[in-house]
Amino acid sequence: MGKQIHIGVLISGGGSNLQAIIDACENGNISGQLAFIGSDNPKADGLKRAAKYNIPSFVVDYPAVIRKFKEAPSKISLPADFDLDDLISKQSLVHGKGGAKKVKYFLTTRAIAEAKLLKEMKAYSFDLLVLAGFMRNLSPYFIDRINLDRNNPRIMNIHPALLPAFPGTDGYADTYRYGCKVGGCTVHFIDYGEDTGPIIGQRAFPISEEDTLESIRKKGLVLEWELYPKCIQMFAEGRLKTVKKTFTLANGQTVRRTIVEILPNNK
Ligand code: GRF
Repeated sequence: MGKQIHIGVLISGGGSNLQAIIDACENGNISGQLAFIGSDNPKADGLKRAAKYNIPSFVVDYPAVIRKFKEAPSKISLPADFDLDDLISKQSLVHGKGGAKKVKYFLTTRAIAEAKLLKEMKAYSFDLLVLAGFMRNLSPYFIDRINLDRNNPRIMNIHPALLPAFPGTDGYADTYRYGCKVGGCTVHFIDYGEDTGPIIGQRAFPISEEDTLESIRKKGLVLEWELYPKCIQMFAEGRLKTVKKTFTLANGQTVRRTIVEILPNNK
């Protein structure tokens, strides 16, 4: 058997992707094992899967953390290494109305919750962190403490749309409402933006007149369960290389983008 990676998973809900990953580890489609399952939601059904498979788990109750901060901000101590200016200069998650105050509130509450996540995760060694229906944006505070080597990102996410179309929390519904004739799912590395990170893999399905939002979700999820383990396995095989590309447009402007190159399988 080749190298086995250790995988940490964060969830918020039912965890059907988590189940697909557990199954793939068990049947050898992923050369790895789960190190832990964490959740921001104490009621996440997926936590039952942790108990069933004897995988260590923990919860950082985000709503409670945010509520406590709102009630008495001065009573909450910030992480010792919290640097608001640094986070503001990196983040691209919060814009628009509310301005600086909104950005500060968002980054502060997230860093408090994320410091708690990091503290829980410290007990486990892991190579890859997988977001499987984790419905929280991660701020640069958290990302920088996981991606210690900037050239080798190690937080993956699955998104229910063909990115860069329809970022956000409701990809299948957005696809449906827009009247798209094709839908799909995307696995990508996390960067500082919302669903903007380098794409690792995508799967698409046709949408016909007969489709409903439910049928679209179903088609999408089936593809997610197939795609996510495949992408994780490519990571385990060391086949995902992030490369910085610069493109020159017809008007002379340059566009820079970090992309994922998939290396051949030299098994
Ligand atoms: C999936 O559709 C995933 O793409 C999105 O959230 C959903 C999670 O489903 N990010 P599950 O909890 O894995 O069943």
